[in-house]
Amino acid sequence: MCGIVGYIGSRQADKLIIKGLERLEYRGYDSAGIAIINDGLSIFKKAGKVKALRKLVANADTSGTVGIGHTRWATHGEPNDINAHPHTGNSGRLALVHNGIIENYGVLKSALIAEGHTFDSETDTEVLVHLIEQIQKDGNLALEEAVRLALTRVEGAYAIAVIDRDNPSVLVGARKASPLVVGIGEGEYFIGSDASPFLDSTKRVVYLDDNQIATVSLENGLQIRNTANEEQPPFIQELDLQIEALEKEGYEHFMLKEIYEQPKTIFDAMRGRISSKESRVTLRGLEEYANRFVRANRIIIVACGTSYHSGLIGEYLIEDLARIPVEVEYASEFRYRNPILSERDIVIALSQSGETADTMAALELAKSKGALIYGIVNSVGSSIARLTDAGSYIHAGPEIGVASTKAFTGQVTVLTLLALSLARKLSTISNTYFQTLVRELELIPAMVEEILQENDHIKYIAKEVKDHRNALYLGRGYNYPVALEGALKLKEISYVHAEGYPAAEMKHGPIALIDENMPVYVTATNPSAYDKIVSNVQEVVARKGRVIAIVNKGEQAIAKIADHVIEIPSTEEPLTPLLSVIPLQLLSYHIAVELGRNVDQPRNLAKSVTVE
Ligand code: G6P
Repeated sequence: MCGIVGYIGSRQADKLIIKGLERLEYRGYDSAGIAIINDGLSIFKKAGKVKALRKLVANADTSGTVGIGHTRWATHGEPNDINAHPHTGNSGRLALVHNGIIENYGVLKSALIAEGHTFDSETDTEVLVHLIEQIQKDGNLALEEAVRLALTRVEGAYAIAVIDRDNPSVLVGARKASPLVVGIGEGEYFIGSDASPFLDSTKRVVYLDDNQIATVSLENGLQIRNTANEEQPPFIQELDLQIEALEKEGYEHFMLKEIYEQPKTIFDAMRGRISSKESRVTLRGLEEYANRFVRANRIIIVACGTSYHSGLIGEYLIEDLARIPVEVEYASEFRYRNPILSERDIVIALSQSGETADTMAALELAKSKGALIYGIVNSVGSSIARLTDAGSYIHAGPEIGVASTKAFTGQVTVLTLLALSLARKLSTISNTYFQTLVRELELIPAMVEEILQENDHIKYIAKEVKDHRNALYLGRGYNYPVALEGALKLKEISYVHAEGYPAAEMKHGPIALIDENMPVYVTATNPSAYDKIVSNVQEVVARKGRVIAIVNKGEQAIAKIADHVIEIPSTEEPLTPLLSVIPLQLLSYHIAVELGRNVDQPRNLAKSVTVE
């Protein structure tokens, strides 16, 4: 949440920073602002998206080659101009942007007020810049030392960037539990919440670790110390990321582009890891800890949001194929409920961003109890990827639309590989069935491609159902988590109230809601539960509900009674979620577009949730 950009070099900073903020808008878009050092310190900030900031600075003097910027997801204080970052202290010498929450800001603020400080905003961030200012003044200190001492007094999470009008050759950044990366260019440096703001200028990066403070200056380059004042040699990495991955490439929205990328991203998640010819599934991260997995008492999957739903599919897959008991938990609940954990447990974290605060905290707890922690993550180099003992990237490339699509199918693909690999090691499925699943899995990308060709038909259905204010999603077995995910997708981007249910549970409550105004999305592609789902659909139809059914090609029984049918290729049951979720993603997308919603940046949401 909240995006940070910083620049120091010889180019005009505001242009680079504002472009960078646009790339970070997925992290929050309640307000945006920049601070530039020129003759003094110029600060521009505005409620709303970066577009509003762009307009504000259009005719202003923003010349200067050092600056910081911020796009906000509001935590403390409403999203108005005053609460927007950057914030300054009373002397107006420093400017600071912050992502995270300073938990002890109340105590610090009272102490600063007693020393004569006055505050303009309701933010915790403003307290931090005042604290740095006070420490700097008291000790006549360099900016980086004042930042370091201030951070030793701060509780909570932060990624910050700070500049000092009286020392324009230095840019300081620091992190604790919120991501921050330094980009090293030719005679210039960048700071970002991720590398996207500066990817077209450099791919050489240093990811900061917790409690590290980076000082960049054109004279002395990059220096890193921790809050205990120990020098930390920077570890420079070269990113393998293409700038095109951050562009819409002709699609109207990132979400649509990402939905359409899925044949490739599912393939990429399997690349080199699977071969039907060799009858093999290999996940390198798993191989390293194969004994721990094979001897595990149970596997606990922790995640949030869409990643939690792919975790539920993981539970079905691992229990069904590898016969290891699995529990799936919302990371936010797991971390606070004193869970029973031992060295015989394996905790798998699923996360697109690799930065979700609750998931990180759940992992830290699991690690402290001796469990093996394994990450299934998209963002390379992210905090979760670095925290885990081992793991597998999903290789989906940057996901920018706030509603997760390709990361979901990437996670499910890797979970399928994990379940298959464990099943092989534990001999819990026959060689023939293993071989069938591997062969079918290799065909999934082409099948997804086929489903995408139904786009016009799905768009037509979306137009038909768009005005309903509620929706019910039903599925059984492997398709139950898909129903949950379908409902979440609709809620997130259309603001239509939607609920996902196991189809058979409908009669224990939701059936009371069904009338001609209730669209019911039924995912009925799993053969084992087919007859039962047909009965559930009959129950909906008898109450005049409008049924939109996702069925296997050639299906007859449901097609006869449903209002709309979307046919998809049939596959082996454990692989159905990878196909059945695609029409639900497209339906949500088109309904949201029909309703005029901001698909890529839905209200109140953020892509990366780095606060509790
Ligand atoms: C936010 C995003 C969701 C995502 C969830 C978990 O709510 O908007 O799309 O599923 O966080 O994020 P993670 O990065 O850990 O998968």
